[in-house]
Amino acid sequence: MQRLICCGLFLATLASAQADAAATKLCAAVAPAITGELKAGAAQPLPKAEVLARIAVAAPGTAALDAAKVLQIEHAWPEDESAEGRLACVPVGDDSGRMVVLIAAGDRTFRGGAVLGKDGTLVANMNAFANQFAGKAVPKLDGAVTRAAAAKVLAELEGGKDAAQKASAALIDVRRQMLHQSAPIGSIMTLLEHGKAPSDADVTAARGPYQALQARAAEIAPAVGKGAKDYAASIDGVLKALDQIAGAGDEGKRKAVHALLKRDCRTCHQLESDRWQGAFEDFAQNERRRLGLGERVFLVGYDVLPAGVDAADAQKLADAMYRAALLLDATLP
Ligand code: HEC
Repeated sequence: MQRLICCGLFLATLASAQADAAATKLCAAVAPAITGELKAGAAQPLPKAEVLARIAVAAPGTAALDAAKVLQIEHAWPEDESAEGRLACVPVGDDSGRMVVLIAAGDRTFRGGAVLGKDGTLVANMNAFANQFAGKAVPKLDGAVTRAAAAKVLAELEGGKDAAQKASAALIDVRRQMLHQSAPIGSIMTLLEHGKAPSDADVTAARGPYQALQARAAEIAPAVGKGAKDYAASIDGVLKALDQIAGAGDEGKRKAVHALLKRDCRTCHQLESDRWQGAFEDFAQNERRRLGLGERVFLVGYDVLPAGVDAADAQKLADAMYRAALLLDATLP
């Protein structure tokens, strides 16, 4: 343990010793938006021109990618050891002069993000937007799909006529509904777990995505095969549990609803079927790849939440974040 602490301290000193004034300033501006501790390290060379060109094809944008910056950083979640990673800062490329920042660690998951104004200061009311990727996987440049191509595939799927096409469309829609339930269900589950009462607004917001899933449960059946019955039952279960929240008047009852919700999330996530082996989530991810949707295309409403940002502006920022994400993939150790 002693050695670990010494080693951590040594690394931290090393990193900050190598950070130049610009890197230190950039990290200091971003740090308030990030959960956990962020330390600046040395500025890193950008990938070769050929790699930058591939990033520009997968994530088109107006700003030249050679104006981007990549830094070595160290990040530690609260109560966790620090991990080495990279920070990518990419101009949005519009008149605003703004830049987006994304941070990821060596395990190739995002640690957070930020939006900076023209003068390099944090645009704090966009922290929730920029931080929504924390904990999620960094998409790979190999096989990356443009946001526009993915939007086209989604539109074609939604227009599908036969049962197989409808099943694929309904399966792809699960990801969208999971995205929309994430914030309200997250706050509901945390409160219930501690015996506290969630807000009516969150319960209403969480019901919407599950009603959308329920409406397509029959359509999705050919895609989930033998799992269809449990699939539908898990959605009904979540909706029933959400209905019970209003009447759960004490700590014990709220904790009981929490257990019900958790059970229903698990029932669907651990769904068994003759259509796949292993996890339902992996199957869904492979289906998305097979259909030409890539991993994460930073499409607002599909795999990015506007999170309080005007939709058109959110897509502009998300496009720059896609470039930052692919730069991270190309520069992470
Ligand atoms: C009816 C089935 C079903 C239910 C019920 C369900 N999920 Fe999911 N969930 C999925 C599938 C399928 C995926 C993977 C989608 C994909 O990657 O295309 C997923 C993905 C997720 C993700 C990852 C999203 C991302 O952006 O990576 C989270 C978080 C999540 N679910 C949370 C929950 C929670 C919390 C509950 C319970 C309140 C729940 N889910 C209930 C089917 C379900």
